[in-house]
Amino acid sequence: MASSTSRIPGFYQLTPTDRLAQVAEISGLNEAAVNHLQNMGNLSPSIADSLIENVIGTFNVPLGIATNMVIDSRETLIPMATEESSVVAAVCNAARQCRDSGGFTTFMSGSLMIAQIQLLGVKNPEFARLQILSRQEDIRTVCNEADPVLVSKGGGYRDVEVRVLTGRSGPMVVIHLIIDTRDAMGANAVNSMAEAVAPLAAEWAHGYANLRILSNLADRRLARAQATWSLDMLGGESVRDNILAAYELANIDGYRAATHNKGIMNGVSAVVLATGNDTRAVEAGAHAYACRSGAYRSLTHWEVDAEGSLTGVLEMPLSVGLLGGATRSHPTARLCLDIMQADTAERLARIIAAVGLAQNFSALKALATTGIQQGHMTLHAKNIAMMAGAKGEEIDMVAEEMVSTGKVRLDVAEQVLSRLHNTE
Ligand code: MEV
Repeated sequence: MASSTSRIPGFYQLTPTDRLAQVAEISGLNEAAVNHLQNMGNLSPSIADSLIENVIGTFNVPLGIATNMVIDSRETLIPMATEESSVVAAVCNAARQCRDSGGFTTFMSGSLMIAQIQLLGVKNPEFARLQILSRQEDIRTVCNEADPVLVSKGGGYRDVEVRVLTGRSGPMVVIHLIIDTRDAMGANAVNSMAEAVAPLAAEWAHGYANLRILSNLADRRLARAQATWSLDMLGGESVRDNILAAYELANIDGYRAATHNKGIMNGVSAVVLATGNDTRAVEAGAHAYACRSGAYRSLTHWEVDAEGSLTGVLEMPLSVGLLGGATRSHPTARLCLDIMQADTAERLARIIAAVGLAQNFSALKALATTGIQQGHMTLHAKNIAMMAGAKGEEIDMVAEEMVSTGKVRLDVAEQVLSRLHNTE
């Protein structure tokens, strides 16, 4: 009998197995459910337990490989972790269709992250601003002392900026520490630096420090990817022009821009997740960057080049790293980096930008031609076939019949399956 409480003193001190036993008792899970949750797949309980709190299991997501990608003249296999059908196929298709035009060319603006310090209670904010700027060398020393390892790898303090902003309760001084985080995503490094500089800055400004945290609007860590699709690959001028019209809508309408950028993030987040990086940090940065004009816009830009081909560009903040957190300790994340041969954070960010652009191309092309449901249908039909009880080869047989008749429904799957069973 389930005893319902969410108050479990000492829960965090238990092992994953003991926590699961408690949850099972409270939630009334049966033995099969407990066995299911106890299977931690290829992430050991001890690693899972060291990554987050109160672990009872793991949650598996499919890992697929995007093929056909040529990025800066390098053939690249790209692992993508996603639960959404058609996302991996979309990248493979877009990449195949731009191979003849050279694949993807990428650029990176740098590996600079921003840490913010908010100073309150400052009587003379403009004077304080100059005081802080005049202590640039002290700030450099404090920042670099906070992370000597980063400095030894060529990173560290680069610059300081100070702004005076006015909130509802009056002016505040906001300091930006600009830090080169190299192959690290850098959140820990820049947060430590902000915490180290804050008391000094508060003293110089005759105020007190409140927030000390990185900004996810990493607009000094912009990844750019560009690729061209020929008219042949597009299927003619009308497809090209419809893609452009679809892009135009994303540039003037927030309702469409949200969906357009969601498609880009389908690709981006799948690679970010597969490499153990912080999907939310990248997503927050992307959406904030999409708003930089004051209105929410497309992250990609599409144009017609001199040959009449379609050229696309994606530019977005990409704060990813190779060194910290799950990227270092999750064995699958490390193997994903090996598969795509991403030996620097910059290479990883460039790959991710190319994937985002590929994803957007495929979505726009599908929307501008057959619609996206056709592509989704085969995988969707397989899911329905499995729900109807199809196993092994039956899954494809049931799915194919449903797709060919255009009726992808559970009742149809059950009918096809029972016919198959009766004719065996
Ligand atoms: C679905 O996950 C993503 C799309 O909606 C993106 C788009 O509309 O551009 C297909």
